[in-house]
Amino acid sequence: MPVLREALLKISRSKVMKSTVTHAPVTRRVVDRYVAGETTDDALRATRALADAGLTVTIDHLGEDTTKREQAGATTDAYLDLLARLSEAGLAATAEVSVKLSAIGQLLGAHGEKIATENAQLICEAALEVGTTVTVDMEDHTTTDSTLGIVAELRRDYPWVGAVLQAYLFRTEADCEALAGAGSRVRLCKGAYAEPESVAHTDPAEIDRAYVRCLKILMSGDGYPMVATHDPRLVEIAVALAEREHRAKDSFELQMLYGIRPSEQARLAWLGHRVRVYVPYGTDWYGYLVRRLAEKPSNMRFFAHSLISR
Ligand code: FDA
Repeated sequence: MPVLREALLKISRSKVMKSTVTHAPVTRRVVDRYVAGETTDDALRATRALADAGLTVTIDHLGEDTTKREQAGATTDAYLDLLARLSEAGLAATAEVSVKLSAIGQLLGAHGEKIATENAQLICEAALEVGTTVTVDMEDHTTTDSTLGIVAELRRDYPWVGAVLQAYLFRTEADCEALAGAGSRVRLCKGAYAEPESVAHTDPAEIDRAYVRCLKILMSGDGYPMVATHDPRLVEIAVALAEREHRAKDSFELQMLYGIRPSEQARLAWLGHRVRVYVPYGTDWYGYLVRRLAEKPSNMRFFAHSLISR
């Protein structure tokens, strides 16, 4: 993994850097590129604009690595409010939600998994009531088994719950095989965390090759692949594999992040593909923002500015 990217990903969990960057005057402009805003109204406004452009949406209420039970409850409540507001606004058929289990309690000690499962069940029930779905984001490799276990449990009552698999992990081809069954919604991404060489590919070309191997498994399976990448070559390969497998255009979807390659999102939708945009909102944007900056090292100047302009 390039040194700069690794260093950035490490500080994505630093509390000191979080405070420095969050309060730097130069920050707002960069945040606005990647985050739809701080309030539910902001998320709804962005969703409406994307829906008008023929795109679908998955909304993330920002937050992760929660260490307090009340905070996990507050994040769960924010999702329940968001789902009710989506329904009121007539947007529940357009937008689902994406949830990080670490934001709703997964890391809260011995009872963390139970708390996260119960909170995720509340969110799934609310999604069911308004007629939409939930996808469970994937975080660093120390949580993969726990997250997939919770997804399996949620799927007993809510079989439409989406899982996320990260192509950079060595284990992921086997996970794709296990999750390629009928009706299984699986988002495949490259992976956004700083992972050790013992568990993950770190060479970008190796990650791309692993992504293609995973795509082949998902596209030839009976599930619903959600191809989450901005990489033009991988999007092209995904579409070609879908055609080779005689998949209808509504049997898979392409996903990209808010603010990244928006004209390509619109072009792919115009070609008749299902395109979903991941829309993050909220005040706790630091970790999300740093992962986006790590993907685009030309954004590094921002960090230097935020440190010296304090
Ligand atoms: P890559 O990083 O190679 O980028 C390809 C091209 O896209 C770049 O050359 C550039 O043009 C553009 N690009 C990419 N990132 C950019 C950026 N930040 N700013 C500007 N341009 C950029 N990860 C994870 O670990 N768990 C998860 O749950 C999710 N969920 C998720 C949902 C969705 C819908 C997407 C699209 C991605 C995720 N990810 C994720 C993030 C994913 O793992 C990965 O880190 C990013 O998508 C970047 O990888 P790409 O596949 O886009 O390729």
